[in-house]
Amino acid sequence: MHVFTVIGARPQFIKAAPVSRALAQAGLKETLVHTGQHFDAMMSDVFFDELGIPAPTYNLEVNSLGHGAMTGRMLEKIEAALIETRPDMVMIYGDTNSTIAGALAAAKLHIPVAHVEAGLRSFNRRMPEEVNRVLTDHVSALLLCPTQTAVDNLAREGITQGVHAVGDVMYDTTIDAVARARGRSKILDRLALTPRTYAVATLHRAENTDDSARFEQVLAFLEARAKDTPIVMPAHPRTAKLMAATGRSPAGVTLIDPLGYLDMAWLLHNASAAFTDSGGLQKEAYFHRVPCVTLRDETEWVETLEAGWNRLWTQDAFASPRRDIPDYGTGDASVRIATILRDHLAQR
Ligand code: UD1
Repeated sequence: MHVFTVIGARPQFIKAAPVSRALAQAGLKETLVHTGQHFDAMMSDVFFDELGIPAPTYNLEVNSLGHGAMTGRMLEKIEAALIETRPDMVMIYGDTNSTIAGALAAAKLHIPVAHVEAGLRSFNRRMPEEVNRVLTDHVSALLLCPTQTAVDNLAREGITQGVHAVGDVMYDTTIDAVARARGRSKILDRLALTPRTYAVATLHRAENTDDSARFEQVLAFLEARAKDTPIVMPAHPRTAKLMAATGRSPAGVTLIDPLGYLDMAWLLHNASAAFTDSGGLQKEAYFHRVPCVTLRDETEWVETLEAGWNRLWTQDAFASPRRDIPDYGTGDASVRIATILRDHLAQR
């Protein structure tokens, strides 16, 4: 039973880490492919080190291209690796260009696809990620959904076979990270911060950075928030480059280089609030029970809004009362995924 995993962007390293461990424990062989989409030491290597992800068998070194060129080159190289390794299943994560490239390469070779984080929808087709999600789900054999909302989204598109609600693998990673970061991460000392006296922000989405008027609106929003609570912002390379090029750096916001996973988990764990356009950070904020404002006009993670832990920047208030979100599971999503894969492969 041989699983071929395609990852390439930072959030995928975070999601794949516990699943890789669970696959090994379930006795499944895994070949790991890094597309190269994220390539800086602090966007890639540090996650492999800190999260104990095995070194990839292939690094395709495809990055820094337009969406079509990036996806196309990945597709070609993944296909070649698949023909060489002949796996029983291809496993992909989330909604990036690496995800759709892995899904398409496998589908064209008639290799079944397992999609972790299936069924998420923002219903905004202008997002490259939304297109990647919809297309990926429609060629997947196993749809491993984090929530019941995701299961319902798939049903509305006619996808009901191979659908499993398994919980959120990022919760598995968070539990592990908090245990390891406690007493080990020096990030608060390094930034001279004390718990609950600062907020964390991240900003990288194309829809926020590529339109200068929108980018300015987001920065003004953060500046207004920073008047109450200072903000620390680990900057994605795209955002850092943009700020350097325009010379526009928001007042009250301390920009720092991207952080490794343990430092980021600890920084967020001790923050009083989070501001982000990342999908993952919205959930991680909830896992750490830190209120979050999402710097987007919609979110795929609607449970976080309903539970009062997250609000869109266009909303005035959090839903009340605050409550827990059972859908995300108990930290065993990766074990459930490994069991489903093993059973599926055993039946073939
Ligand atoms: C990608 C995903 C997005 C995800 C994000 C997580 C797509 C369509 N988008 O967006 O869903 O939320 O990853 O971070 O796949 N760069 C570097 N060093 C790096 C990585 C990127 O300099 O290690 C630069 C690239 O050269 C490029 C820019 O950052 O100029 C954007 O990178 P790219 O991989 O195209 O997309 P992300 O914005 O990271």
